Amino acid sequence: MAGNGNSEPLLSHLIELLDALNCGAALLDRSGAFVYLNQRLGVMMQRDPNALLGQHVIDFYDDPSDHKMLADRLNHFGSSHEMEFYLPLPDGTRLPVITSARALPGEAYRLVTLIDISKQKEAEQSLRDQYEFIVKMSDTVLNQALDLKHYSSDLEIRVQERTAELHAANMDAIYMLAEAAEAKDQDTGRHVRRIQAYSRALALQLKLPEPQAQEIGYSSILHDVGKLHVPDRILTKPAALDPQERIEMQGHTIVGEKILSPREFFAMSRAIARSHHENWDGSGYPDRLAAENIPLAARIVHIVDVYDALTNQRCYKDPWENDRAVAFIADEAGRMFDPEMTRAFCAMVGEAHLLTR
Ligand SMILES: [Fe+2]
Repeated sequence: MAGNGNSEPLLSHLIELLDALNCGAALLDRSGAFVYLNQRLGVMMQRDPNALLGQHVIDFYDDPSDHKMLADRLNHFGSSHEMEFYLPLPDGTRLPVITSARALPGEAYRLVTLIDISKQKEAEQSLRDQYEFIVKMSDTVLNQALDLKHYSSDLEIRVQERTAELHAANMDAIYMLAEAAEAKDQDTGRHVRRIQAYSRALALQLKLPEPQAQEIGYSSILHDVGKLHVPDRILTKPAALDPQERIEMQGHTIVGEKILSPREFFAMSRAIARSHHENWDGSGYPDRLAAENIPLAARIVHIVDVYDALTNQRCYKDPWENDRAVAFIADEAGRMFDPEMTRAFCAMVGEAHLLTR
């Protein structure tokens, strides 16, 4: 048993009880001096409990606010208190504790018990550290995800811009080539752009999807590129062509197909260049294909090419009125042109009544 062996008889029973407690315990007198400390408290304070007897509890604390609080407790000696506090250790660190204090009967002594809560505090701190780590990691991950998202959308925009630029450059090259071919023949450039617009519009009238209609439109631009190889005297002859001249003129279909790149991008252009003079009844050139053996895009370009030739000036003819041109087209349904396409064309130009078959 540690402590003051001269304690009163009442105290000696109490001291036995304090030694049996599984927490730190001390008796203070009204001045705040230690009257008794049990062994457990000595272990907690890392000091010999006998050496502390008679010392004032306030003297162990350096902080003035702790002095004030302890003095206040001693001034209210009869009151009970429980609070979270600490024990100052010899190495300057603090041991966190929960203290409970109450005066003994007669209020000559005050019993204080102390429970070591350092493990709970460490666990709390560890949880707090982990929480802060997770918050920090979450912020990092979130910021990285946002950075990635921005990078990805920037990249997407750049790819889109580059693709649009390449497409525009391709289209420029196509127009330049088409206009070079047209320059030998008719009204520079305007013809091919009309053919592109009409072909796309007729494809849409036929209920083809927009991307396909658009492809048919730009693939139609080079339909007459083979005319680059047809002599000017034939292209600009203001009279009917003789049989040999007609053969050379008709050759622009095969030459056109050969001029065009073998790349997939030009597959439809090649089919149009070769087959845009084929007739539905098999009487066209160069392969005498008939009906649905003629590629769909070539059938479309065939109608709009003839319509455009009729309604515009040519070296061998004046422009026709729209009604007359549409009537001609309507009349050729099933001979030159795909009947279903002819119906769609007449409906598109608002002249469906001109159809006779
Ligand atoms: Fe042609």
